[in-house]
Amino acid sequence: MKIVDNISEMRLLRQQITVPVGFVPTMGYLHEGHISLVKHAKTENSLLVVSIFVNPTQFGPTEDFKQYPRDTQRDFSLLDRENVDIVFMPSDEEMYPGDFTTWVEVNQITDRLEGASRPTHFKGVTTVVAKLFNIIQPARAYFGQKDAQQLLVIKKMVADLNMNLEIITVPTMREPDGLAMSSRNIYLNPKEHQAALVLYQSLSLAHKLWRQGERNAEIIRQEMEYLIKKQPLAEINYISIADNNSLEELDTVIPQTLVSLAVKIGRTRLIDNILLK
Ligand code: PAJ
Repeated sequence: MKIVDNISEMRLLRQQITVPVGFVPTMGYLHEGHISLVKHAKTENSLLVVSIFVNPTQFGPTEDFKQYPRDTQRDFSLLDRENVDIVFMPSDEEMYPGDFTTWVEVNQITDRLEGASRPTHFKGVTTVVAKLFNIIQPARAYFGQKDAQQLLVIKKMVADLNMNLEIITVPTMREPDGLAMSSRNIYLNPKEHQAALVLYQSLSLAHKLWRQGERNAEIIRQEMEYLIKKQPLAEINYISIADNNSLEELDTVIPQTLVSLAVKIGRTRLIDNILLK
């Protein structure tokens, strides 16, 4: 496994590669969710690049950029075990030099859900992902359903800007207890971890109601809210029942409706979602 820490070396290496490249962008502190992206990508590509870059521009001024967990040595050994070919980990200074002034911004679908609470977040995500795509020039890039809105925003960017690659969705990996894996789960103490199970429990309740024939989005939302409010450590940020392309809220639930939520457990903000099918 080759570790590349600067853009010019990555470009030089890329020029020598003649096979289609698979790419998994990450911010490191890898868990089984990231590894499932890597495993998926490994089956479909003979050459795989994984990036580790904690992207400063997608964190708001009061968010956890400085405290975001990092463990590069552990990440390397996990990726080496999966036979990743190249790990790309550029520096902040090289990705965002002092004279950096160009941004990639997807409008409308970024105003809602995560974008409503984190107004500059997706602008940072699309800018860094566009930069990484330009440097690595992948044929396929892999993103987790865990970050459903991010996935839609990236797909929209690729379509609108005619980027020449395929975006592949990988299902959400969960702990055996249902909690969606996330680098931020490290912030949860055991009591909070237990409380955090309410996210998936409420999504499972939505799925159950849907299977039983409930089509009224407001009723499903209220049932979820009622369940979450019984958990004293949980504070709801949003519960959304929306179209899985436009992210517009729905009155009537249809197949492939996206049910998503953000809930604060203590000081940790967690997100999760399911598609009703
Ligand atoms: P990060 O949070 O490190 O996630 C990297 C990728 O792993 C994303 O595509 C995310 O959706 C996926 N992922 C995270 N948890 C997952 C889980 N439990 N199951 C399946 N996939 C999961 O998302 C980012 O980094 C950044 O915004 C990035 C795209 C790298 C741009 O900076």
